[in-house]
Amino acid sequence: MTTSRPLVAGNWKMHLTPSEGSSLATEILARLPRHSAAEVLLLPPFTCLSAVGGVLAGDTRVGLGAQNCHWEPAGAVTGEISAPMLAGLCQYVLVGHSERRQLFHETDSIVRAKLESVLRAGMSPILAVGETGEERQAGLTRAVLLRQAKAGLVGLERAEVLRCTVAYEPVWAIGAGAAAEAAEITEAAIILRSVIEEAAHGGAGGVRILYGGSVTSQSAAQLLGAPGIAGALVGGASLRAADFCGIVAATGR
Ligand code: PGA
Repeated sequence: MTTSRPLVAGNWKMHLTPSEGSSLATEILARLPRHSAAEVLLLPPFTCLSAVGGVLAGDTRVGLGAQNCHWEPAGAVTGEISAPMLAGLCQYVLVGHSERRQLFHETDSIVRAKLESVLRAGMSPILAVGETGEERQAGLTRAVLLRQAKAGLVGLERAEVLRCTVAYEPVWAIGAGAAAEAAEITEAAIILRSVIEEAAHGGAGGVRILYGGSVTSQSAAQLLGAPGIAGALVGGASLRAADFCGIVAATGR
């Protein structure tokens, strides 16, 4: 059982310039109800954080996060962005997205180091985990989720675990146009919940588990109603204000 507000996070990935991002954020604010049952979060590219933050300033309905960070606080690492650099701009940082794991060869230990750097900088990590299509075919879903979630969470201080969110994103469902079945999502949530409880030494019902992978405003109510799921990590549909706000509305029901 989760005890906190559902969270709907829009992962814009490598899309939108600062002015385009500002327009999208403005449209999202205009479409959101005055009081939403769900917490709403935007994860724009680094280059949009400041502009989108300006649009959201003073509006408590929508928070801001980054999609990635480096694990060191500073150094000779050309082209990278550290957690302390983000701390004044946003509240959340996504770590371990499958596109980072696959395209940039991020291992479980790199993801863990990033997650710790986010915590040290005073922000909240969203840890993404999920099996590939091949791993699913081979019956490895449970093993992969246990490995990724344990590598991310076990050994943290209890108070640190309580600041985390975990996103179950089956890799085969991302951008696929077809989401996982509710039963599979629930099964994954049970596995992830067991790791969260182990890492926190119990009593971690407030740590949210999100589902991500082809969530749309049409599918949201069914997907996010899956037992154990407290919100969504949305990719493609988060770039369309009407669709994204439809997902928020479905989650808050
Ligand atoms: P999608 O992406 O909603 O486009 O499937 C989800 C994600 O990658 O976070």
